[in-house]
Amino acid sequence: LMNKVTVVGSINLDTNLRVKRMVKPGETIHAKEHYSAGGGKGANQAVAASRAGADTTFIGAVGNDAPGKQMMDLLKEEGIDLSGIDTIANESTGQAFITVDDEGENSITIYAGANFAFGPKEIDQKESLLKDSDFVIAQFETPIDATIRAFEIAHKNEVKTILNPAPGEDSISADLLKVTDMITPNETEAETITGVHVEDEVSAKKAAAKLHDLGVEVVIITIGSKGAFYDFNGTSELVPAFKVHAVDTTAAGDTFIGAMSSVLKANFSNLKDAILFGNKASSLTVQRYGAQPSIPYQKEIEVK
Ligand code: RIB
Ligand code: NA
Repeated sequence: LMNKVTVVGSINLDTNLRVKRMVKPGETIHAKEHYSAGGGKGANQAVAASRAGADTTFIGAVGNDAPGKQMMDLLKEEGIDLSGIDTIANESTGQAFITVDDEGENSITIYAGANFAFGPKEIDQKESLLKDSDFVIAQFETPIDATIRAFEIAHKNEVKTILNPAPGEDSISADLLKVTDMITPNETEAETITGVHVEDEVSAKKAAAKLHDLGVEVVIITIGSKGAFYDFNGTSELVPAFKVHAVDTTAAGDTFIGAMSSVLKANFSNLKDAILFGNKASSLTVQRYGAQPSIPYQKEIEVK
């Protein structure tokens, strides 16, 4: 039985540059490679869920332009239900400009465009898609009021909600956390939200306790190459990451969430196995370049 995963999120056309080292302010450098690819945290998570075997639906927006058509075609090829995507006149499709250096480190500048051009009203029009899901997933590249409405609809219908609080924001809405069942910050985002500097299991547990206090039942904090720490129902553990050589970590977090959600049970009873599956998936993503081109398929992920 396939999980039904609905992502409310961003769609970006990624422009990728590979450089020896990052450019400094006021400096001009040559890139050694250039390519474009499908991206956006929302779209990446949907692609990861779908490739890992979930029945996936997307809610979001593109502009009425060539990149929008190109991104829609890519998502269609993945077999993702696109009926929740609006095409918005006079807005450009979201764009991301990504630089990756020889250490595999990236820096990303995004232009939201159409990703910011919808709100609660557009979400209400998609109520039937949200109801008909096992999980609804959102990030911070789309308007917060739209996400709150989507999570409220999910909750009214006993659908579980997953918040990936990325990219990091200075503050987080209490209203949003009230309707969030699972939160998946990385160590930096966890620190921003809780004020706890996360670097190991002990500090992660402290941050998790604060997130539980804010009303979130399941906490997963990803700690880079160390792995993913979870705290749920009185049990906590750091599930180690697979040791691999990373060339490009873009979309690693997105892959983790999408893949995990495709195998997770709605009562979270198989949380650790789902995290292992997500860890395996993202270990494949970091070994390849680009966002969506690097996201693995179910067959590659299967952990023995
Ligand atoms: O998480 C990676 C994504 O962040 C990229 O695909 C880029 O579009 C930015 O949104
Ligand atoms: Na990658």
